[in-house]
Parts: sequence; C-alpha cells; structure tokens
Amino acid sequence: MRVLGIETTCDETAAAIVGLSPAGKPEILSNAVLSQIAAHAAYGGVVPEIAARAHVEALDRIVARAFAEADLEPHQIDAVAAAAGPGLVGGVMVGLTTAKAIALVTGKPFIAVNHLEAHALTARLTDNLAFPYLLLLVSGGHTQLLVVRGVGDYLKLGGTIDDAVGEAFDKIAKMLGLAYPGGPSVEREAEAGDPERFDFPRPMSGRPKPDFSLSGLKTAVRLVAERIAPLSDRDVADLCASFQAAVVDLLVDRTRAGLRACREAGVMPNALVVAGGVSANQPIRRGLTRLATEAGLPMIAPPLALCGDNGAMIAWAGLERLKLGMVDDMGALARPRWPLDELRPKP
Ligand code: KG4
Ligand code: ZN
Repeated sequence: MRVLGIETTCDETAAAIVGLSPAGKPEILSNAVLSQIAAHAAYGGVVPEIAARAHVEALDRIVARAFAEADLEPHQIDAVAAAAGPGLVGGVMVGLTTAKAIALVTGKPFIAVNHLEAHALTARLTDNLAFPYLLLLVSGGHTQLLVVRGVGDYLKLGGTIDDAVGEAFDKIAKMLGLAYPGGPSVEREAEAGDPERFDFPRPMSGRPKPDFSLSGLKTAVRLVAERIAPLSDRDVADLCASFQAAVVDLLVDRTRAGLRACREAGVMPNALVVAGGVSANQPIRRGLTRLATEAGLPMIAPPLALCGDNGAMIAWAGLERLKLGMVDDMGALARPRWPLDELRPKP
C-alpha cells in the first residue's frame, strides 16, 4: 500500500510517498519539501498571496521529485492525499486541485486530510504507537491538548485562548529584530542567555482546565524590552532565554493538567506525544520528557525533519484513512478552519 501526500497549507510546498512494507511497517519512500522562507522573510511572516503563487509555481516539480526519489510511477500508488485545511485557503486549493487531478488521471482514490490530524498521527508513522495517547499540538497556528482515540476520533481537552505558541515565538523574534521564522531564532539566541534574568509570567499555571494563554507573556517581554532599550546582544539573549524558560514551564504545567484531565475522562494514555513545528524546540522536548517520566509514560516527539510541515505526514494520514476505507469524493473543499474535534470517526 502506497500513498502520495501533498501539503500546501502554509509556507512549505511538500510532497511525499509513504508505504507499508510487506510486514506492515510504515516506510517513507520519499519526502520532498521546498520551504518558502526566503520569499516571506522580508515581511517577517507568511504573506498568503505570495504563498499561494509560490505553491502553484513549485508543486509540479515537487510532486515529480517525490515520485523520482521513491523510484515510482504515478500508477504505482494506491491513493492520493492532500491537506484540505486548516490553513491559508489559496495555498490549500493549489494542493487539493493538484491531488484531485492526479487521482482522476490515475483512477486512484482521493483523500482530503486534515493538516492537524496529520501532525497528530505522525507518532504512529515513526513509532508505531497504539491509541489512545495524549497529544500536545504546538505550531504557528495551533496550541491544543487532545486525546487521540483513533483515526478521526479526537477529544479536545483544552487550547489557547489567544496566541499559539509558535506565533508567540515569531512575534518575540520580530520584536527583537531576529530572523523569521522566530522559533529557531529564539531557541538559538537563548542558548547563550540567562533564563533567570527576567521573571516572566507563566499564564494559567495551576488551573485545572488545560487551557493556554500566551499574550500576557508576550506583552511582558515587550514591556521589559522597551524599558531596557537600547538592547545589547546580551539583553536579547537573556530576553529569549527567559521567555523560552517561561514557555517551557507553562507548557509542562498545562500538559500536566492535560494528563490529569485525560485520566479523569477515563482514558489511560499510552504515551505523551508532542507534534507541530514548535516540537522541534529542544528545551520544550526536555521539559515534556521530564513530565512524561514523572507520569510513567514514554514521551514521543517526531524526528526534526517531520516536526515542520511535510508531505510524509499527509501521506501517512491518508494511508491510515485508506486502510479504514475513509476516502473522499471530488467535492471536498479547501477549509480555512477545520477543528480536529469536528472530524468524525468511521461509524
Ligand atoms: O507546524 P508548522 O511548521 O506550521 C504550522 O502549521 O503552523 O509550525 C511553524 C511554527 C512557527 O511559528 C515556528 O516559529 C515554530 O513552529 N517553530 C519553533 C521552532 N521551530 C519552528 N518554535 C520554537 N522552537 C523551534 N525550534
Ligand atoms: Zn503544521
């Protein structure tokens, strides 16, 4: 069984082919990703129109590369999957239309994948993890705690009431004049900084419901940065380190509340999983690993190449759906908003 997956929801144009070995082991046969970072860097964030145009220009080439790297022809795959949202709708339409066209020409089934579900199921691709598990999904647009009970079956325990974690990293980076995307820049600066110099707030800490809030922390960083300006290199490093330390603490505290909520809902998770672009962050991984160990659970984070947006996660989610007969028709639309807990499991 082999599935082509196409991802165009944000600023990565990606296509990949994922298959199952004869023994049933997941295999990434190819994984082509073209980042548009350079096209958006000057604007300090993703410009939707530029992203959509860049997807149009690059996608054919990226799909061809995915087939070439896997040494396969289009008729040798069993289905075509594309992220149908949530995301920037212009880009999503490019991926969706391309996937439908390939499915029509090859006569293979088409699968409209939820981008968040693809992040959520990556741990099953890499670690063969069994349901259920607790997922901390942290990306540029999303910050949520979910119980992953099955394909299409998600119980949302909590989420952010304002900014997403990745968004907070990006805004702090922009404020401090660091390169876009902000997450990796802040993490790099923080390595040389003092995480205890500034005592930033850890919003929502201690609350039983596992919700998140980032905007107060972001404002606190801005106020300190304005007060001590002009900023030396040392100041920037210390601001980044102190901000990141607050993020680690609040994510660990909120995830601890999530574990409690999960158990109160009668679910014994098999693992704590972190996914989404922010899961590349090493101090965040270390904090979550400590928490998981404390709870007697394994902590699973994707390999770095699968943390950011990629086609392999879309192909894998498509393959999981294909196995269950969950295919879509050509009427599937691009969806700017598509909450995970609105997906329905197969009856
Ligand atoms: O999942 P993703 O690639 O795209 C979305 O679906 O949003 O996540 C991108 C986000 C950006 O906000 C980026 O700054 C953040 O993930 N990010 C990081 C790191 N690498 C990427 N945040 C913190 N530390 C990192 N190392
Ligand atoms: Zn993503």
